[in-house]
Amino acid sequence: DQPAAHGTIDGVTLHDSPFLRACRRLPVPHTPVWFMRQAGRSLPEYRRVRADVPMLDACARPDMIVEITMQPVRRYGVDAAIYFSDIVVPLKAIGLDLDIKPGVGPVVADPIRDAGGVRRLRDLEPDDVPFVTEAIGELVGELGDRPLIGFAGAPFTLASYLIEGGPSKNHENTKAMMYGAPELWAELMRRLSAVTLGFLRTQVAAGASAVQLFDSWVGALSAEDYRTSVLPHTAWIFERLAELDVPRIHFGVGTGELLGLLGEAGADVVGVDWRVPLDEAARRVGPGRALQGNLDPATLFAPWDVVAERARDVLARGRAAEGHVFNLGHGVLPTTDPDALARLTEFVHEESAAAA
Ligand code: CP3
Repeated sequence: DQPAAHGTIDGVTLHDSPFLRACRRLPVPHTPVWFMRQAGRSLPEYRRVRADVPMLDACARPDMIVEITMQPVRRYGVDAAIYFSDIVVPLKAIGLDLDIKPGVGPVVADPIRDAGGVRRLRDLEPDDVPFVTEAIGELVGELGDRPLIGFAGAPFTLASYLIEGGPSKNHENTKAMMYGAPELWAELMRRLSAVTLGFLRTQVAAGASAVQLFDSWVGALSAEDYRTSVLPHTAWIFERLAELDVPRIHFGVGTGELLGLLGEAGADVVGVDWRVPLDEAARRVGPGRALQGNLDPATLFAPWDVVAERARDVLARGRAAEGHVFNLGHGVLPTTDPDALARLTEFVHEESAAAA
C-alpha cells in the first residue's frame, strides 16, 4: 500500500515521517508535534506579510499561502505543516457573501435561516479553488519529507457561522433549526458535507498527505443531539475520505462527553482539548484510534518550568494511546511568545526520543 515515492530526502520518505506514522499508530523515533494555528498573529513575520492584505484575499493568493504555511515550519521545525486558509474559504468559493473581521472572526451578510437560504449552497468543484491546487503543488515541493495537513470546517461548525451570521456563544439559532426543523437541518448538513468533502478532496489531490476536520464548536451539543443530528453527516465525510488513504483527524473543543462518538465517526486520529487527560481520552475514544493533543494553550504564558512539566505529563499520558501526535488543546493564542513554542517543540522531540 505504498504511495508514490515523492518527497524522498536522504532516503527518508514522506510516508515514513513521524507524523504520518503516529497517525497510523506505528512506532516513531520521537513524538511528532505541530500546533493548531501555528501560522498566524503570534508570528511577527506573519503580521508583516499580512499587514496590507485582508485575510480572505491572503487565503486566495498562492504566494501568500505558501509563505505563511512555511513560516512556522522554518521557525519551529514542527513535524507537519498545515495549509494556510480558513474554514469559510470554501463557502466563499461557492458564492456566499461573507468576510473575516479582524479580532471577530467570520461574519455572514445574509444568514441562512430557511429553505431558500439552504438552496444557496451548491457543491464545490476544484475549479472553484484554483489557488488551492497551485499553492499545494508548490508547498509539497518545498516541504519534501514533511507532511502537509489539509483541513476543512465540519458541517456543524460551518452551519453555526452561516445560521448565526457570525461567532456565537450559545448557538441558539443553530439549535432552533436543528430541533425545530430537522428536515431542513439535515438538508443543510448534507450540502455542507458535500462542500467540505470537495474542499478536502481538492487538497489531497494536490498533495496534502493528511486531513483535519475542525468541528470546533460541536462541544455545545449533548451526546444524544450529536449522535442524531451531526454524527451521520461527519461519518459520511470520513467514509468517503477513506478511499484517499490519508490519515483523517477529527477535532473539536469541549468534547469530553462526545469523545466516544467522535471515535465512532470514523477518523484515524481524535483531537482532544485540555479538559480531558489523554489516558482518560484514550479510554473514552476506544481502540483503533490515535490521539492528538492536548496541552492547554494558556500554559505557554507560564514560566518555562511549568510548561516543561506539563508537556512531560501530556507525553506520559499520551503513551496510553495507540498513537500520539503532540499538539495544543486548541489553537495558539495570538499573544503567545514564539520562543516558547520553539522551546516546546525541541522539548517534545528530545523528551520523547529519550523515552522511546
Ligand atoms: O492552524 C493554522 O495555522 C492554519 C490556519 C487556520 C486559520 N483558521 C487561519 C486564520 C485554521 C486551521 C483555521 C480554522 C478555523 N477558522 C477554525 C477552526 C479552528 C479553531 O480555531 O477552532 C475556526 C473556528 C475558524 C473561524 C475563524 N477564522 C476564527 C475564530 C478566526 C479568528 C478571529 C480573530 O481575529 O480572532 C478566524 C480568522 C483567522 N483564521 C485568522 C487566521 C490566521 C486571523 C486572521 C488575522 O490574522 O487577522
